[in-house]
Amino acid sequence: MLKPLFTKNEIGDAVKRLASCIENDFGDEEILFVCLLKGSFIFLSDLIRCIRNPSTVDFMRVSSYGTAMKSKGEVTVTKDLEESIEGKNVIIVEDIIDSGLTLKIIKKMLLERGPKTLKICALLDKRARREVEMEGDYVGLTIDDGFVVGYGIDYAEHYRNLPDICVIKKDK
Ligand code: IMP
Ligand code: MG
Repeated sequence: MLKPLFTKNEIGDAVKRLASCIENDFGDEEILFVCLLKGSFIFLSDLIRCIRNPSTVDFMRVSSYGTAMKSKGEVTVTKDLEESIEGKNVIIVEDIIDSGLTLKIIKKMLLERGPKTLKICALLDKRARREVEMEGDYVGLTIDDGFVVGYGIDYAEHYRNLPDICVIKKDK
């Protein structure tokens, strides 16, 4: 059963808030947005259309979840970036920070490539589930424990097309 958590209007407001924080911090500087596939593709496309800075986008795919609802605690890069990030202002765009393991590993990996700045922008933050120290620089909405889908976010590759973000509840 799907229980609505955030409507598309609430998500839109959060995206606009994030965009204006990013614009304030970066002035006129150019930004390279790194979209972590697949869950962030809708978030990225809405976010960048609210930001007026000169921008480029690139995509990275890592797998830390199979079809189950639990993290495997390891990260494999299945698609790497195509552009160099050296000397650039980079913002990693992620759908959800959960245990924090995925972003911790990706952040370390990207820092080794010598960006000018490296920030994290996450739409959702499950703070209570953190297993490692990991703070998003720009965080849209905080949620409790629970598995969410919609707005690009999946369960076993499904539900990405839902305009709202919903929690999956087990049927009784
Ligand atoms: P972490 O490494 O535990 O922080 O896991 C982060 C990744 O797990 C996110 O990028 C999502 O792809 C996935 N994830 C975490 N929670 C959920 C959820 O509630 N629904 C769908 N995917 C999730
Ligand atoms: Mg993900």
